[in-house]
Amino acid sequence: MKCKKCGNKASVNMRQHKLALCKEHYLEWVPAQTARFIKKYRMFGRDEKILVAVSGGKDSLSLWDILHRLGYTADGLYICLGIDEGIAYSSESQRLTEKFAAGRGLKLHVVDVQKEYGETIPELAARTHRGQEKPCSVCGLVKRHVMNRIARDFGYDVLATGHNLDDEAAVLFGNTLTWSGEYLLRQAPVLPGTPGLARKVKPLCRLYEREMAAYAFLRGIEYIYEECPFAEGSTSIYYKELLNKLETDKPGSKLLFYLRFLEAR
Ligand code: AMP
Ligand code: FES
Ligand code: ZN
Repeated sequence: MKCKKCGNKASVNMRQHKLALCKEHYLEWVPAQTARFIKKYRMFGRDEKILVAVSGGKDSLSLWDILHRLGYTADGLYICLGIDEGIAYSSESQRLTEKFAAGRGLKLHVVDVQKEYGETIPELAARTHRGQEKPCSVCGLVKRHVMNRIARDFGYDVLATGHNLDDEAAVLFGNTLTWSGEYLLRQAPVLPGTPGLARKVKPLCRLYEREMAAYAFLRGIEYIYEECPFAEGSTSIYYKELLNKLETDKPGSKLLFYLRFLEAR
């Protein structure tokens, strides 16, 4: 397989786009695509203050890298959830995020949930849900709350998250199965801000998870490979697996599913 741009050996073959690229051209292609989506969906302009929520995973660290390369002023926010039993998930992702920021001279806000709320996410969930449920819903609420607060307190215009196409397609699939109209209406690459609430954007919403993993790897970004230990067995992972089966048989169907939805909404 040869790179479509230069004819050298291709490093990444994207059947969904009928496009193969060498390392050099792939590392140009992903930021160029991201820049195109930022403009197409009118996410933000050069003069706006951007806060990137970074988890230490491949998507959000790559997003921060890309925004920085595209010349945007973007600071980071890492929320320490205190998920450190079994595997050191939170402390390791914090270490990698801090290392990434320090290496590039980027500004990072760190919020420790335990210090702010007196309890870690697993403790908070065990108390409020009597240990019955996984902490993911509580965790989602806390993360959203912290992101909104930091964006407001520090005067950021925009809050960017690293949601990729696989994330968005899985959410869309779930909401379509149940025809959850309210949720469907609210799923978009951009959610407009209101006074005191920053605009929310997902610049990677059209990039496959596999494309982001390849980007992080080829760019040499050190990220946490493990998913949150509580994500195991979740419905969103199940939907991602289903969509991946479809994608294997019909390359491009994940993207088409999401794009047709955006056109229809
Ligand atoms: P998830 O809900 O884990 O799939 O993450 C979706 C997005 O939320 C990520 O791409 C990040 O932008 C953001 N995010 C997740 N976890 C954290 C965290 N601990 N601190 C800051 N941002 C996060
Ligand atoms: Fe929040 Fe897993 S429970 S990241
Ligand atoms: Zn090339």
